[in-house]
Amino acid sequence: MKAIRYNDYGAPDVLRYQEIEKPIPEDKEILIKVKSASVNPLDWHMMRGRPLFMRVSTGLSKPKHNGLGADVSGVVESVGAGVTKFSPGDEVFGDVFETGLGSLAEFAKTREDKLVLKPKELSFDEAAAVPVAAITALQGLRDTGRIQSGQSVLVNGASGGVGSFAVQIAKSFGAQVTGVCSTRNLKLIESIGADHAIDYTKEDFANKEDKYDLIFDAVGNRSVPDLAKALKLNGRCVIAGFTNMSRLMHHIFRGAWESKTSSKWVGLMPTAHMEQKDLEFLADLLAANKVHSVIDRVYPLEKAAEAIEYLETGHARGKVVIQIS
Ligand SMILES: NC(=O)c1ccc[n+]([C@@H]2O[C@H](COP(=O)([O-])OP(=O)(O)OC[C@H]3O[C@@H](n4cnc5c(N)ncnc54)[C@H](OP(=O)(O)O)[C@@H]3O)[C@@H](O)[C@H]2O)c1
Repeated sequence: MKAIRYNDYGAPDVLRYQEIEKPIPEDKEILIKVKSASVNPLDWHMMRGRPLFMRVSTGLSKPKHNGLGADVSGVVESVGAGVTKFSPGDEVFGDVFETGLGSLAEFAKTREDKLVLKPKELSFDEAAAVPVAAITALQGLRDTGRIQSGQSVLVNGASGGVGSFAVQIAKSFGAQVTGVCSTRNLKLIESIGADHAIDYTKEDFANKEDKYDLIFDAVGNRSVPDLAKALKLNGRCVIAGFTNMSRLMHHIFRGAWESKTSSKWVGLMPTAHMEQKDLEFLADLLAANKVHSVIDRVYPLEKAAEAIEYLETGHARGKVVIQIS
């Protein structure tokens, strides 16, 4: 089968489109004929081996696993003997990250608890856009952010992969949502349901009079004092985005101090984990038309390096999808 592989860390030109062996599903695993995949910042971090601390688990000088891509949608090709929930021919979507073989391939495999049935209403591209980005938004808002109906919620980075889902998921929880984006994306975030939009090239949300019950930060570029300034008393700020190591350390330590010494909580969300019940929850929201995948660009598999290069600019509008023909 054709797949994207990389043997060294580096820029997108380390990615090779090549012929490799088709994976074989083990006991609890499912082999998927991939229709679409989507890319996330996670993929270019894996490709570059950056930040360096991640190499403790991904391989010190070379990647331990050579496949790339977590998000997948496709058709079940075959199943291991211990699989009970899926059969060949089922249309599914989910996550293949843990196998290390990647979704940027004609076939991918994963455990059955990392997949759900794809609602008929969704295209394969729309379904592939969902897993990592929407699970991050859902778990950040609901579990770390403790979102409640009627709250005022600010989403920083509202036009990106995670942010575009965060705006819609926060609306589905009954929140009043303000999205922060650049000028060219104002209409986009209003079209997906944001009640208000702030253009970060013209206004600083930290210096406005409006204060929020919950901030979901999908960029990770702001200081803790700035984030805290924009919160109401007892407000919470969930940081999902990563910009660099010194910002990350600031978010961890200054956030812990802010949370201990004031009524506001500012901190990182834990790494999103692919829970089947959460994928099912999202599948229902998508099938009910309450949430849509915002797709920016679609690339063929052989151009995956270009897709990652585009995502690395940090200015994608929604998700970048890879189609496997
Ligand atoms: N904690 C976790 O488990 C987890 C999981 C997934 C992702 N993440 C992290 O979450 C972050 C977002 O991921 P993503 O998939 O949404 O990335 P993305 O799609 O690459 O985000 C791009 C978006 O960020 C916006 N943006 C860039 N600079 C901005 C600024 N200064 N203010 C407001 N918006 C800005 C861009 O809007 P403009 O073009 O308008 O500037 C663009 O729409 C990444 O750092 C990623 O590593 C964390």
